[in-house]
Amino acid sequence: MSEPLVQIRNLVVEYRNGRRAAVRASDDVSLDIREGETLGLVGESGSGKSTLGDAILGFAPAVSGSIRFRGEEILHATPARRRQLTRSIQVVFQNPYGSLNPMKSIGDTLTEPLLCHRLASRAEALEKAGNWLDLVGLDISALTRYPGDFSGGQRQRVAIARALIMEPDLVICDEAVSALDLSIQAQILGLLTDLKQRLGVTYLFITHDMAVVAYLADRIAVLHRGRIVEEGPAEVVSTRPSVAYTQALVAAAPLPDPVLQRERRGRRQAASAESEPAWREYGGDGASGDGAERRGGLARATGRERAGGAASGVVGEQERE
Ligand SMILES: Nc1ncnc2c1ncn2[C@@H]1O[C@H](COP(=O)(O)OP(=O)(O)OP(=O)(O)O)[C@@H](O)[C@H]1O
Ligand SMILES: [Mg+2]
Repeated sequence: MSEPLVQIRNLVVEYRNGRRAAVRASDDVSLDIREGETLGLVGESGSGKSTLGDAILGFAPAVSGSIRFRGEEILHATPARRRQLTRSIQVVFQNPYGSLNPMKSIGDTLTEPLLCHRLASRAEALEKAGNWLDLVGLDISALTRYPGDFSGGQRQRVAIARALIMEPDLVICDEAVSALDLSIQAQILGLLTDLKQRLGVTYLFITHDMAVVAYLADRIAVLHRGRIVEEGPAEVVSTRPSVAYTQALVAAAPLPDPVLQRERRGRRQAASAESEPAWREYGGDGASGDGAERRGGLARATGRERAGGAASGVVGEQERE
């Protein structure tokens, strides 16, 4: 098998706040991200998901271990090398209003990284920005508008365009759809999938929501208290999880389909009447059927059942406010 795009080995990250005991947010993590795949990283709040993304980006206080990007050790890269690496590694955060400068037009937001890295003249950068707005399903008139003029889903489309305009090898999506309504979530997931098929980009998709990675990821790694507790093909981890912690995450994953949600609620109530732990009902074959239905539900919501949906075709009516 070819060398992974990112190879994390025995990574330890500790946050130290004054005299309080250090928080070990990554505890001996080893993980590969293969070229062209979508790796889903799931875990509850505080399990260390963002820390791992931050470590790849060079923001986390790593104590020991190694992160190789295309074979190059980057854990302690110099600031100059880090700046160069932003061409290859981009990030999309949960809150695009926080990551987009409200005072900067969308045109300036999109052209800035190209101009900073001297990848294009101003005219070329503007043309590219217009093309990218089209690719993410926004009108070219957005170039002269500001983040405050857009809905949350539209702002996330701008954030995605800004990350992908650099044609990076790796995009880290940290809770990129978590703040959005379910219907808008499904549209943005559809957009990310379409862009991946067009561009062959690799995603590290960080989320607390097992339903999202079950739909989007090729492989899933599960984090618990800074450690990887389970890892494998998305189909297997999301439908036949082998450890109790993952089973609980699967049981907690919201279903996008209201009919399935009602069914699940009914089964959960029946299970609690028998005083069973909530996750048990989704172990084994029961979980398997549920996961397959959930994938189908999200596929329906994104319109991915229909063949060959273009990226621009996924703009939802709900977003045109
Ligand atoms: N800058 C920091 N200073 C101190 N502790 C931190 C810092 N950042 C994260 N931590 C701690 O490290 C642990 C892992 O945090 P992290 O943000 O990686 O979790 P997460 O899985 O991304 O959670 P969430 O789903 O809430 O975003 C937590 O205990 C958190 O409190
Ligand atoms: Mg986080």
